[in-house]
Amino acid sequence: MNVTQAVTSRRSIRAFLDKPVDPAVLRRVLETAQNAPSGGNTQPWNAVMVTGEPLARLTAHVAEAIPQGLAAYSAEYPIYPAELEGRYAASRFGVGEAMYAALEIPREDKAGRMGVFANNFRAFGAPVLMLVHTPRYMGLPQWSDIGMWLQTVLLLLREEGLDSCAQEAWAVYQKQIREVVAIPDDHIFFCGVAIGWGDREAAVNSFPVPREPLDNVVRWEGF
Ligand SMILES: Cc1cc2nc3c(=O)[nH]c(=O)nc-3n(C[C@H](O)[C@H](O)[C@H](O)COP(=O)(O)O)c2cc1C
Repeated sequence: MNVTQAVTSRRSIRAFLDKPVDPAVLRRVLETAQNAPSGGNTQPWNAVMVTGEPLARLTAHVAEAIPQGLAAYSAEYPIYPAELEGRYAASRFGVGEAMYAALEIPREDKAGRMGVFANNFRAFGAPVLMLVHTPRYMGLPQWSDIGMWLQTVLLLLREEGLDSCAQEAWAVYQKQIREVVAIPDDHIFFCGVAIGWGDREAAVNSFPVPREPLDNVVRWEGF
């Protein structure tokens, strides 16, 4: 698999096969991902890999909080800016609508949509969940570095035939996560990443996720 194939075959996978992931493969992916660039080589990413019993304990603990609704939320950063508008807002809502359309869950079926959203907190059935955190004092450039590392991990997973879904949704339950998995208090919890073998046939894994035309996002000068 070349880089282009890794990039174009990656999509966010939200249904996984009940098949374990070899820890040696994960270690190889993460070792290689250490080559990701970062400003000043600060390497601000930190992660906890969770599987098996601890993952079951985590999902069971978070499941207890879900019925409390927003009262149980405690994200440490705004997942989306309040100002999100125009094409950014349209894309955000578009991907949700495309997913629910593929699953044939109409807008009126609030419970059905909430049920699908709650799949986030089972890591979509993936056998492995990576929890990403970084010191609280890290700034915007370091968060961008974490993104570079994350995509490096996701692409290397593809090379191993594995699938993933980055999950900011977990941030709303960072308090509950910390009650089960040790994350330093002076670190901010960023996101989870579900990792496993995707069920590529599932409707939730095969709807189109359009991208902005290149000329809307890149301007060329002097070419
Ligand atoms: C940092 C990050 C966090 C994300 N959080 C979630 C999430 O909580 N739940 C979810 O279903 N998808 C999540 N996604 C997936 C995005 O919705 C997805 O990347 C986007 O719609 C583009 O689709 P694709 O990844 O299938 O190409 C996240 C993606 C990133 C990069």
